[in-house]
Amino acid sequence: NRTYRIAVIAGDGIGKVMPEGVRALEAAARSHGFGLELDWHDFASADYYVRHGRMMPEDWKEKVGTADAIFFGAVGWPEVVPDHISLWESLLQFRREYDQYVNLRPVRLMPGVPCPLAGRQPGDIDFWVVRENTEGEYSAVGGHMFPGTEREVVIQETVMTRHGVDRIVRFAFDLAMKRERRHVTSATKSNGIAITMPFWDGRVDAIAQEYPDVTRDKYHIDILTAQFVLNPQRFDVVVASNLFGDILSDLGPACAGTIGIAPSGNINPERAHPSLFEPVHGSAPDIAGQGIANPVGQIWSGAMMLEHLGEAEAAAAIMSAVEDVLQTPAGRTRDLKGSADTVSCGKAVAASL
Ligand code: NAD
Ligand code: IPM
Ligand code: MN
Repeated sequence: NRTYRIAVIAGDGIGKVMPEGVRALEAAARSHGFGLELDWHDFASADYYVRHGRMMPEDWKEKVGTADAIFFGAVGWPEVVPDHISLWESLLQFRREYDQYVNLRPVRLMPGVPCPLAGRQPGDIDFWVVRENTEGEYSAVGGHMFPGTEREVVIQETVMTRHGVDRIVRFAFDLAMKRERRHVTSATKSNGIAITMPFWDGRVDAIAQEYPDVTRDKYHIDILTAQFVLNPQRFDVVVASNLFGDILSDLGPACAGTIGIAPSGNINPERAHPSLFEPVHGSAPDIAGQGIANPVGQIWSGAMMLEHLGEAEAAAAIMSAVEDVLQTPAGRTRDLKGSADTVSCGKAVAASL
C-alpha cells in the first residue's frame, strides 16, 4: 500500500489553518487508497523562538529530511521576532538548503468567485508564475558599515548565476510545453537594473532557442504589473526572478479574487531533497485567531503536494471539491464575500471529496 511521510509545520498566525489542509489530504487519501504518515513539528514559529532563542532545532534536517514532502503553513510574528530573522531562519533556509529552486504559483479565477477586475470570466485568468527561489535579489551578500553614524552604508547584492537562471527558465519553458497556449512571458527590468537583468534577458533568449514551439514576450516589471490588471488573458507561464516573482504572485491572485486561495510549491525538481508546499499568503496577524482565514490556499497547496507525489487523481479530486465549495457564498470565506468561516469551508471541501 502507498504511504507518504509528510512533515507538517503550521508556523504562526493563520498558518494554523493547517488542520483544514490536513482534513482535505486525509479525505483524499481515504477515497484514493493511499496512506499518510504525518509528523507535526512545532518549530519554525514564534512560540518555538521564544522557548529556544532560534526558529529551528540544530538537527532540523534529521527531523524533516526523510519526509516525502513538507506541508507548511506560514511563518512570521513581527511583534515577537523580526521578520528577517524568522524567515531567514526557517522558510528561506528550507528553500536554499533543499535547493527548492522553483517556486510554482498558479493564478486562476475560479468559477463563481467574485473577480475585482470588471467583466472577467474564469478562462480569462489562468496562468502560472514560475518564480526563481534560491538566488537573485534574496541574497546574503552585502554589508552594513558604520551603523548608527552619518557614514552609514548598506549594500545588498543581487546574485544571478548562469546555472540558476538557466534552470528556472528551462522549467518555465518545459511547463509551457505542457500547456495549450505554449506561451512564456519573462519579467525583466533591463532598462534600469543594467547588469543582472540584461544577463537574465540574454539567458531567456538563449534557452528559448531550445523551444521553437513556445511563443514568448517580455515586459519590464513596472508595466507587467499594469498588464496583470488590464490584460490578464495575455499570460500563460510567467517566469521571474525571486523578488519580481514574489510581487507577481500576490498581485495575480488578488486580481483573481483573493490571495487567500493561492497555493505554491517550492520544488526541487531533481527530487534530491523534499519539496515544500505552502499557501502564498503569510500569517496575517490582523485576522489571526478569529477563525475567519480562508483555508483554500492551504488546501490547494495540499493538492499540489499530492500531484508532486504522483497522486494526480487525488489532487484533481481536491480541486473539484474546492471548485464546488467556492461556487456558493455559503462555502466562501469573507475575503471572497462569503459567509463561511475557516472550519466550515474546510469541512465543506472534505465533505465534497
Ligand atoms: P499576509 O499574507 O499575511 O496578509 C496580507 C493581507 O491579506 C492581510 O490583510 C490578511 O488578513 C489577508 N490574508 C492573507 N491570507 C488570508 C487568508 N487566507 N484569508 C483571508 N485573508 C487573508 O501578508 P503580510 O501582512 O505582509 O505578512 C504578515 C506576516 O506573514 C509577516 O510576518 C510576513 O513576513 C509573513 N509572511 C509569511 C509568508 C510565508 O510564510 N510564506 C508569506 C508572506 C508573509
Ligand atoms: C512568500 C513570502 C516570502 C518571500 C517572505 C515571507 C520571505 O512573501 O513566500 O511569497 O518573500 O518569499
Ligand atoms: Mn510573497
